[in-house]
Amino acid sequence: MANRLSDKVVVVTGAGSGMGAAMVERFCAEGAKVIAADISGNQDEVAQRAGADCIPCQFDISSSEDVRRMLDLAVSRFGKLDVLCNNAAIGGAFGKTGEYTEEEFDRVWSINGRGAFLGMRYAIPLMLETGGGSIVNTVSIASMVAFPTMPAYCASKGAVLMLTKTAATEYAEQGIRVNAICPGTVETGMSMGMPKEYIDMALSGMPMSRIGQPSEIANLALFLASDESSFITGTSIAADGGYTAL
Ligand SMILES: NC(=O)c1ccc[n+]([C@@H]2O[C@H](COP(=O)([O-])OP(=O)(O)OC[C@H]3O[C@@H](n4cnc5c(N)ncnc54)[C@H](O)[C@@H]3O)[C@@H](O)[C@H]2O)c1
Repeated sequence: MANRLSDKVVVVTGAGSGMGAAMVERFCAEGAKVIAADISGNQDEVAQRAGADCIPCQFDISSSEDVRRMLDLAVSRFGKLDVLCNNAAIGGAFGKTGEYTEEEFDRVWSINGRGAFLGMRYAIPLMLETGGGSIVNTVSIASMVAFPTMPAYCASKGAVLMLTKTAATEYAEQGIRVNAICPGTVETGMSMGMPKEYIDMALSGMPMSRIGQPSEIANLALFLASDESSFITGTSIAADGGYTAL
C-alpha cells in the first residue's frame, strides 16, 4: 500500500538515527511531507535519502524556543501540522536510584520528559487551527516494567505515557488523537550503546528471542499517524516481541 499519509504534514524528532530515521523514510514513501528534526546533524543525510518532501532541521527538543521554531517550520514550509512524532530521547547514565546524580536525572528529564511535553504543548494549538491531528509519542516498555539502574529513563517514560493519556482525553472531541508506542529492545544507536548484559537480559525474557528493527516500529508509527487508526486515542501499543506479555 502507498500514500497512506498523502497530504499529511509530519514532524519527526530524533530523525537522525534509529526509529526516527526509519519513520522519516517510511512516512515519505507513504506520501507525507516531513520535517526531520534532530540535534545531531545526522538528519541531513536521512532527509537527503527520503527525497524532496523532507526538510531536515537541527533543533534541541529540550529548548522551548527550538521546539516552537521546529513546529512553525512545518506550517511555514508546508502550510499546516497534522502529525507530531515525539520520538527523540536519551538513555542517560546507569546507576541505582540511591546513587543517581541529580544533574543526570535533570538532564534525562529535560529531554525525555519535558521535551516530549514541549512538543505536545506547542503542536496542539497548531493542530486545533486545522481541526485535529495525531501525536505519536515514542515511549518504551520502560514505562510499564522496571529496568534497574535506569531510574531517570524509566521515570521519564512513565511520565510521557501519562501525558499521552491526559492530552488524549483533553482533546478527543477536538479531533486530536494522542497515542504512545512502547518499543522493546530495538537495534538502534541507543540500544547498541548499552552494556551487553542489558541486551542479553532483554532477549532472555522475550518470547520472540530477537531484537527488533527500527522499521518494525516505523510501521506502527505509520498506523497511528494515519487515519487508519481514527478510533484509537489515549492508548499505548507495545512492540516488544512479547516481552511484557510474560
Ligand atoms: N532502542 C531501543 O531499544 C528503545 C527501546 C524503547 C524505546 N526507545 C525509544 O525510542 C526512541 C528513539 O530512540 P532510538 O532507539 O531510535 O535511539 P537513537 O539514539 O538511535 O536515536 C535518538 C535520536 O534522538 C536524538 N536526540 C537526542 N537528544 C535530542 C535532543 N535534545 N533534541 C533533538 N534530538 C535529540 C539523537 O541525536 C538521535 O539521533 C526514544 O524515545 C527511545 O527512548 C528505544
